[in-house]
Amino acid sequence: MSELNPELVERTAQWIAEAGVVVVFTGAGVSAESGIPTFREARSGLWAKYDPLRLATVDGFLNDPRLVWEWYAYRRKLVREKEPNPGHVSIVELEGWADELTVITQNVDSLHKRAGSTNVIELHGNITRVKCFNGAHVYPDWNDEAGKDVELPPLCEHCAQLLRPDVVWFGEQLPTGALEESFRLAESCDLMLVIGTSGNVQPAASLPAAAREAGARVIEVNPEASEITHTAHFMLRGASGEVLPEVVRELRKRT
Ligand code: OAD
Repeated sequence: MSELNPELVERTAQWIAEAGVVVVFTGAGVSAESGIPTFREARSGLWAKYDPLRLATVDGFLNDPRLVWEWYAYRRKLVREKEPNPGHVSIVELEGWADELTVITQNVDSLHKRAGSTNVIELHGNITRVKCFNGAHVYPDWNDEAGKDVELPPLCEHCAQLLRPDVVWFGEQLPTGALEESFRLAESCDLMLVIGTSGNVQPAASLPAAAREAGARVIEVNPEASEITHTAHFMLRGASGEVLPEVVRELRKRT
């Protein structure tokens, strides 16, 4: 927190106050302070401990469906036990200063919605939902307790295919409508806040550049530089659960 530059907090508040259409683009870092591990951090990231090829690809699932199902069941339980943190809550509060604010998230944990954000686009799906293997039948808010006596993964009650988490795995397409809407918003917003993402996973990682090229102001919030830091006009260096409440405090001073 000591590194946080008050002038940059003021400029962020000023830019939010001046913006009509705001996009908040988030990644795993915004949920880190809720106790949900990120993916790529060297010691604590999920991909430091688990192999994404075994756990987050169609081939990995077909090779060992039970292992993959159980890993997602474990993560479903984890996200349900966790609560939104002051970063999520501050993003909800920012809605009060924008004409239109949309959260575009790569996170699958529902914490933006649970915090109360109104417009949320989930680019990589949602871990609390499951669907049959061909995607025709979707089960919102899957209850692992109810299915725990059947052989895992359970089968779809409509088409008897294997059920799988409704998240986007490596090599899969993002939901078309969500992706198109995200690029439309990036290209038409006045301001994009890029919060807690390493900027490694395409096509989501191209949204800040699309916003910048279309003339938007771009601000990054992250304790570390990312792959997309260069697309931002400036960076607020720090944890989003500490930085974003400072920005909200600064905005409140102005009203
Ligand atoms: P990463 O794990 O790649 O990056 C997390 C980012 O959060 C890093 O830049 C950290 O510096 C930053 N960070 C850590 N703690 C933070 C905090 N308290 N406040 C703010 N930032 C913090 O996560 P993503 O960029 O979200 O995809 O990863 C993108 C995608 O890769 C994920 O959606 C997931 C993963 O594989 C799928 O599962 C499809």
